[in-house]
Amino acid sequence: MQRNPVGKLLLFGATGDLAKRMLLPSLYGLHADGLLPKDLTITGSARGDMDDDGYRDVVKKALDEFLPADRKDESALGTFMERIQFQPADLSDPNSFQPLADKIGDISDGLAIYLSTAPSLFESAVEGLEKVGLTGSTVRIALEKPLGYDLASSIEINDTVARAFPEDRIFRIDHYLGKETVQNILALRFGNSFFEPVWNAQGIDNIQITVAETVGLEERAGYYDGAGALRDMVTNHILQLVALIAMEPPARYDKDSIRDEKAKVFRSLHVMTPEEVPQNTVTGQYGPGAVGGEIVKGYLDELGKPSTTETFVAIKTRIDNWRWQGVPFYLRTGKRMAVRRSEIAIQFKPVPHSMFAGRGGLLQPNKLIIRLQPEEYIQMLVMAKEPGLDREGIHLREVPLNLSLDAEFAGARRRIAYERLLLDLIEGDQTLFVRRDEVEAQWAWTDAIRAGWAANDMKPKSYASGSWGPSTSIALTERDGVTWQDD
Ligand code: BG6
Repeated sequence: MQRNPVGKLLLFGATGDLAKRMLLPSLYGLHADGLLPKDLTITGSARGDMDDDGYRDVVKKALDEFLPADRKDESALGTFMERIQFQPADLSDPNSFQPLADKIGDISDGLAIYLSTAPSLFESAVEGLEKVGLTGSTVRIALEKPLGYDLASSIEINDTVARAFPEDRIFRIDHYLGKETVQNILALRFGNSFFEPVWNAQGIDNIQITVAETVGLEERAGYYDGAGALRDMVTNHILQLVALIAMEPPARYDKDSIRDEKAKVFRSLHVMTPEEVPQNTVTGQYGPGAVGGEIVKGYLDELGKPSTTETFVAIKTRIDNWRWQGVPFYLRTGKRMAVRRSEIAIQFKPVPHSMFAGRGGLLQPNKLIIRLQPEEYIQMLVMAKEPGLDREGIHLREVPLNLSLDAEFAGARRRIAYERLLLDLIEGDQTLFVRRDEVEAQWAWTDAIRAGWAANDMKPKSYASGSWGPSTSIALTERDGVTWQDD
């Protein structure tokens, strides 16, 4: 892959939470490992008066708080600060942009702009940037979620950005794609020959994807209450996992081959009718309870006002194509759940005939577990015979065949997902960024579910913090004879 690094990075939302927790520590991580272009400057921008030194203090504090101790290196911190400067800007004020352009200076060696701001500012940002010449052919732009709240608003955002930037210079971020374990799905599926022949409706009975979090609202009431679990987690991160699991083998590891195959999956997702929604979705909102031994408040108490926003959602969906005909995909995510866990469980079909049945041996269908976080492992559950003389019958047991990625790659540092994505942005590789057609198909599927909730007046059911969500989510799979993978 041809690398085409830019010489400048402009970060909007430079004093925000994401910048402090993720973007600045990631940029520092790349800098400390010598991965940033030698002369790359990083210009932070946000509202409020601050000079370069003031912003360097903000950066220092953020790194102090969010960098692991073993990554702090005084000399690297010093040279990192030399890259940093700041220019105040109010993106809704057209007068903000000329001083910004002046501060950035010559962009002939390339500029990457990172918009980590509310999407309501995208339009004025793009217009302002265009007027002062910051959208030319050497400029690429990265967009942070949320990229809209439904299909119509997402089209509007995409149209706005497309007025100034062609698709090959737009980098839509889904940070799950930057995660090592998520990219590992590609290695597992397409770097090995033995899964592919059974990776279809003939070999697989059902697929479960769980992204369970123990955190609650955090300090994000304004955003989260307007979004809810479906739009916050399923539309983007979980559907990206679905696509990587379900897509056809891409011919090459590049932006077109991989994104073409993902987009085909999104277009094949079954879009529910309003009548199908109550049977195939469950929503919940956390009440008070205990998580990890700690008593926590319910969502409404945290929020301080009534709300029908869902903090949990479970969905049964399907992919209408040949490979996946009749295979249910069960998806669920929630805040304040029993444990923090992201996992994909693939349940294979049972053997067509059990030769052990007459001798008392019970079989479980094979399962492949891909644990994405907090641990990183791949586990294949296979049947084995328990040692013994079998005079009372044959005892078979499910045993795990374990591949611990944590242990196998113990020496390799796990980078923050944003390190990978920022470096790819700086170097111009779009493979792990989301293309317009993907986003719009994701929203079309999501909108149909939301329309079904509205049409059926569905409200989230309360669940105790520290549980696995409302009990109705158990019924969603049990009805089909399937049990959620909870241990
Ligand atoms: C974000 C969501 O996109 O992903 C958050 O807005 C969520 O609500 C977060 O907590 C989860 O990311 P991760 O990397 O911790 O799994």
